[in-house]
Amino acid sequence: MVAEKPPMALVLGLESSCDETAVALVDNDGNIIAHHLATQEILHRPYGGVVPEIAARAHVERLEPLIRKVLDESGKNLSDVDAIAATAGPGLIGGVMVGLVTGKALSLACNKPLIAINHLEGHALTPRLADQSLSFPYLLLLISGGHCQILLVKNVGEYRRLATTIDDAGGEAFDKTAKILGLGFPGGPAVEQEALKGDPTAVPLPRPLVRSKEPHFSFAGLKTAVLRAHQSGLYKREDIAASFQQAVIDCLVNRSEKALRKIESENTAINAFVIAGGMAANQAIRPALTALAEAHNLPFVTPAPWLCTDNGAMIAWAGIERFRLGMIDTLDSPARARWPLDPHAEKARGAGVKA
Ligand SMILES: Nc1ncnc2c1ncn2[C@@H]1O[C@H](COP(=O)(O)OP(=O)(O)OP(=O)(O)O)[C@@H](O)[C@H]1O
Ligand SMILES: [Mg+2]
Repeated sequence: MVAEKPPMALVLGLESSCDETAVALVDNDGNIIAHHLATQEILHRPYGGVVPEIAARAHVERLEPLIRKVLDESGKNLSDVDAIAATAGPGLIGGVMVGLVTGKALSLACNKPLIAINHLEGHALTPRLADQSLSFPYLLLLISGGHCQILLVKNVGEYRRLATTIDDAGGEAFDKTAKILGLGFPGGPAVEQEALKGDPTAVPLPRPLVRSKEPHFSFAGLKTAVLRAHQSGLYKREDIAASFQQAVIDCLVNRSEKALRKIESENTAINAFVIAGGMAANQAIRPALTALAEAHNLPFVTPAPWLCTDNGAMIAWAGIERFRLGMIDTLDSPARARWPLDPHAEKARGAGVKA
């Protein structure tokens, strides 16, 4: 018997949790009908990082014109849309409020349901937008600017966190390394480019936590070691960048391997090993993790690089996933600075304030 095709749905997604204002229109089949993104890099560059107040003001100015652009380009209007999905957290609260309140206003004015999206769920489900054959459950390495976690993705809204960072996120380590090396902002792509010219074995750098029993991460010590190497004057900048990137890759592979073994020892069946989040855009990280998945006889899935960093399509897609399950939200849904995907996860041993 052929499974019945679900009815067509069209969701408008709004993203504003950090320094990208992004809007997209996505349908049930994973077609990205239109998408636009306004980056704020130039506004934050003089400060070497994202300034929350500047980000929130920029979202206010940019969001509405982007919504118009997406609708105009797609030849649709709001009456054609089935639901409005807006990031409701976690992130910089001022920016989150701008997007969420805009989503609520559209929902109220057009009488369309609101779907309040966890930005991390946007990253976690985007691999299913990129690969429509990817089914639950899968093991996800979520590597972004604010998070570094390994999650068992059981279903929409159902996550088991196996690991997290006890201090900095990986993307944050890339950004700080770029700052130390004078490579500018945003740091991830700049370090990746610099690393292409360098020797990944030139600088001895630590691989934090690789001997620990649980598959957690730590990047603060690595960042300090980068600072010391730079200050020593003994190494070329490109060699530090390449050695740093290699140390991160080794940690990601080692920790993911640990998590895969844990899952295997529990006889938990998974359909794929998946990576998502901004750092997953890195072209050196991808092959190392592809090899790991192959060694465990698992398909490796990752979205295209532009779908790994923040964008509107990931929020619209998470909206599609929720909408077709009837998961809609009320207009009093709160904006949240923190919002873990697995609310039952225990605090990692040695963890600081980040979870
Ligand atoms: N090519 C790359 N190599 C390494 N890191 C990268 C690359 N491209 C982006 N990043 C890093 O990814 C991060 C941005 O990812 P993303 O946009 O998902 O983060 P965020 O939305 O700020 O954080 P979160 O999703 O945790 O709230 C930055 O830290 C950036 O340096
Ligand atoms: Mg993100």
